[in-house]
Amino acid sequence: MHIVHTIAELRAHLAGFERPAFVPTMGNLHDGHIALVKQAKPLGDVTVSSIFVNRLQFAPNEDFDSYPRTLDADAQRLEEAGCNVLFAPREKELYPEPQTYKVHPATDLSDILEGHFRPGFFIGVSTVVLKLFSCVFAGMPGGVAAFGKKDYQQVLVVRRMIAQFALPIEVLAGETQRASDGLALSSRNSYLSQAEREEAAQLSIALRALSQAARASDSPDLPALEAQAMQALARRGWKPDYLTVRRRTDLLAPQAPMAQEPLVVLGAAKLGNTRLIDNLEF
Ligand code: PAF
Repeated sequence: MHIVHTIAELRAHLAGFERPAFVPTMGNLHDGHIALVKQAKPLGDVTVSSIFVNRLQFAPNEDFDSYPRTLDADAQRLEEAGCNVLFAPREKELYPEPQTYKVHPATDLSDILEGHFRPGFFIGVSTVVLKLFSCVFAGMPGGVAAFGKKDYQQVLVVRRMIAQFALPIEVLAGETQRASDGLALSSRNSYLSQAEREEAAQLSIALRALSQAARASDSPDLPALEAQAMQALARRGWKPDYLTVRRRTDLLAPQAPMAQEPLVVLGAAKLGNTRLIDNLEF
């Protein structure tokens, strides 16, 4: 595997290939990232991953400075997974000057849920993803980009950006990988204390219970069920931002009757100082 730090080196290593399979990450890789690399690999003629902790998607009070940076261990795991090129740019390479041109995604999708609780988050994500796409895919007839469904809203935001900018990129949305107790794998799980780690699976348990309650009737009182689910987590010491049932297509609230509608239940809640997110399609 080649490890490159500049856009010029990246492009030199991609010359001669026609269809990159690309897995963008912020590093501190876990089995979810590795599963994405393995799924993406057969879909392209060269497998590329990036590691870049993107300042633009962190609010000033968030964990940009403390976000775990584990490049050597990550590089080893990527190599073992069959990645061909790792792009690990320094901040000055991707943002040589302040990034004043930014992608502002559609607010109906990007100002709700994560975007409501993390204002500007999807502007930061969309901007860096478009920039990474331009580093990897410029001059290519097409390619594949892989994202994990744990960041469900991010997948929708990126898909819509690709469609609206007519980028020749297919999205592979990988299933969330889970620990044996159901906790969704996440780089931020490493922040949890042992006691918090034991509690953490309660978020996925609460989401499953909410999805079952929502399917129990054709016209459920979703706001009431969602409030109960949040209260139950709060009683265990969590600080929930949202637990909510949405349509998979646009993340808006479903209308009754919703028997046939493909739905997803999404949640975000803080356990101690760690904010966890998760979702389940149902
Ligand atoms: O999902 C992530 O790790 C990040 O949001 C991404 C897509 C790599 C952009 O920084």
